[in-house]
Amino acid sequence: MPTRINPSILAADFANLERELGRIASADLVHVDIMDNHFVPNLTFGPPVVERLLQVSPLPFDVHLMIEDPERWAPGYAEAGAFSVTFHAEASTDPVALARRLRSIGARAGIALKPGTDVEPYLELLPEFDQVLVMTVEPGFGGQSFMASTMPKLGRLADAVRSSGLDVWLQVDGGITEETIVIAAEAGANTFVAGSSVFNAADPAEQIARLRAAADE
Ligand code: DX5
Ligand code: ZN
Repeated sequence: MPTRINPSILAADFANLERELGRIASADLVHVDIMDNHFVPNLTFGPPVVERLLQVSPLPFDVHLMIEDPERWAPGYAEAGAFSVTFHAEASTDPVALARRLRSIGARAGIALKPGTDVEPYLELLPEFDQVLVMTVEPGFGGQSFMASTMPKLGRLADAVRSSGLDVWLQVDGGITEETIVIAAEAGANTFVAGSSVFNAADPAEQIARLRAAADE
């Protein structure tokens, strides 16, 4: 199972986003956190910024929508050319319909679960998704500590993906470091978002390599 490292530009220098994208070119995807000040108490970028950044990015975009009413906004990110669009289960009124819409536009469809959200209702929906994001912090801010209490949920998903034979990527996001990535990989994750640990490193490319090596141990 290949390991994917997706740096989150939430931790990048917002005054120099094009240059920051260049510093993480050895990663797999760019994780783009969209926050609306309603679903989470923080505000980041919207479609015009994402569209422009896509034009200068060496890597495809993994868009993480921490917003209310994803039915209204998510398709626009797929139409803008995002590789994957992940919306929150807690915010969606019809996750299956929205995933089908995203796939029909040509994006991979992802569903995200906050730390307190039960995974069981979503296990039978796995064929509808290309990715499940298990949040390992409460969404809203970078630089928080990894919550190991979310690992059993990942284990349930990993078992379900294995027995289904589907190629659903299992992503973790929040507090991923060289230490916690090992725990998440052992629990079954294969796609790792890392914000502060990559962008606060002296050399982000070296840090990406270290994270990849730790996950592949
Ligand atoms: C948190 C965001 C994360 C965040 C991770 O709500 O979804 O993607 O950027 O940041 P770190 O890696 O610093 O925990
Ligand atoms: Zn995120």
